[in-house]
Amino acid sequence: MNSAILLVDVASAGSDSWKSFLQSHSYEVFTAEDGESALRECLRLQPDLVLLHDSLPDIDSFDLCRRMKGNLLNEQIPIVLIKPSSDPADVARGRKAGAAEFWGTSTSLGEAISRVESLLRLKGYIDEQARSVVLSLARSIEAKHSVMNGHSDRLIKYAVQLGITLDLPEDDLQELRIACLLHDIGKVAVPDEILLKPGALNAEETEIVRQHPVIGESICAPLKSLRHVLPVIRHHHERIDGSGYPDGLRGNEIPLMARILQVADIYDALITDRPYRDALSSEDALETLNKEARYGWLDASLVWKFSRICRYGEYFPVKGRTMLASYYA
Ligand SMILES: [Fe+2]
Repeated sequence: MNSAILLVDVASAGSDSWKSFLQSHSYEVFTAEDGESALRECLRLQPDLVLLHDSLPDIDSFDLCRRMKGNLLNEQIPIVLIKPSSDPADVARGRKAGAAEFWGTSTSLGEAISRVESLLRLKGYIDEQARSVVLSLARSIEAKHSVMNGHSDRLIKYAVQLGITLDLPEDDLQELRIACLLHDIGKVAVPDEILLKPGALNAEETEIVRQHPVIGESICAPLKSLRHVLPVIRHHHERIDGSGYPDGLRGNEIPLMARILQVADIYDALITDRPYRDALSSEDALETLNKEARYGWLDASLVWKFSRICRYGEYFPVKGRTMLASYYA
């Protein structure tokens, strides 16, 4: 995938040359012509780099840089401020505004490209490191709670088999695996005494637990490599009839991968011991899933397919893929 660069420039002499030069180096170049469109496009596109020329009609570039970096989602995006100036105070202002670099003297396109490449390499490295940390954090949360031990790995097996039955492409299955690992990472903010409470939660405790999808999303949001799984993390507790949380989405408004994950997630929770009840048999767990589908909470067609897989090891033939019989036996 080519790196995406947002070029915020309207009046600099070489604005067109910057765009075509960057495109000739295989970058995907987007443009914004004023402060509002720059803020909007940065949030929407989540580019790998922003080149911000000090030439906008409606806002000072330092202020714009500060506003962009003020949004958590833009935190990891390097912004280069470009302003023909030899005033050291401008360099300090740029740094204070959150710019990764300040290009004060006129920078040739040839010189710019090598600096752009270094910034992108650094961003890619930081993103990968941060992703490893986030995945380790998710694993450590699970390891801390013995009742959850092995939950993610089982969840991946269940969810991926359901995904294969739906003929999801390999890229989607890979995102599903990552989502299974990370969907409950927001529980890092839930105290152990609530997570492990051996009885029903009171209203206040329930409210704390219900925040975990949004907290999980905000933990993963700054990382580009996790962007595709954010909707799954945020929406894995929605219900088909709109009675779920955090957004009360209905039916197909709920991302398919979130609907797959919740069927697999609930099944695994039911067949394992919890502080407040013993594990159910697989058949009782499937009956509970079917009941929840009849209530309008879960996707009935997914529950039906999942039940067939669990009961009969039955898969729907998909070309080019080997199905494992009796996978859940
Ligand atoms: Fe959850």
